[in-house]
Amino acid sequence: MRRGSWRRRLWLAFGGLAVSLTGCGTRPAAVTRRPPPGNIAAGRALYERACSYCHGVDGQGGVRLDAPALWGPNSAIATMQRRDLADFIRMNMPLQAVHGIQPGSLSRTQADNLAAFLLHQNHRG
Ligand code: HEC
Repeated sequence: MRRGSWRRRLWLAFGGLAVSLTGCGTRPAAVTRRPPPGNIAAGRALYERACSYCHGVDGQGGVRLDAPALWGPNSAIATMQRRDLADFIRMNMPLQAVHGIQPGSLSRTQADNLAAFLLHQNHRG
């Protein structure tokens, strides 16, 4: 008997927690929304290896082939959608082979990581 009532109290407490997490003032959308794809730290490491060669370690471009700035006041990335940016990178970059990384060889995950890093550098998440 004592054991049973202890369990019931636990269930009530658990139920209350579930209600407070899913309803009652909190917005469910905020709880269920998935974070955007991409790992910023992994993107940074890959950027330094495959992108800084032309775009510069400081992202200001102009190191080789007149590559444009990717962050800072001269960057066009600030207006690009995350998905478009990741697709552009995957299909076009690096423009030439760098440290054994061939053009068109990046995976979706790598492109997502690079996009996440570039958006982070542009103060967009
Ligand atoms: C061999 C030089 C080179 C390398 C390496 C390189 N890029 Fe580029 N990148 C360019 C040039 C040149 C352009 C501009 C011409 C173009 O858009 O095709 C450019 C354009 C871009 C743009 C479009 C910017 C804009 O303002 O439209 C993005 C984004 C970009 N590169 C990301 C990357 C990423 C991420 C990497 C690393 C995986 C990378 N690039 C590696 C040369 C390079």
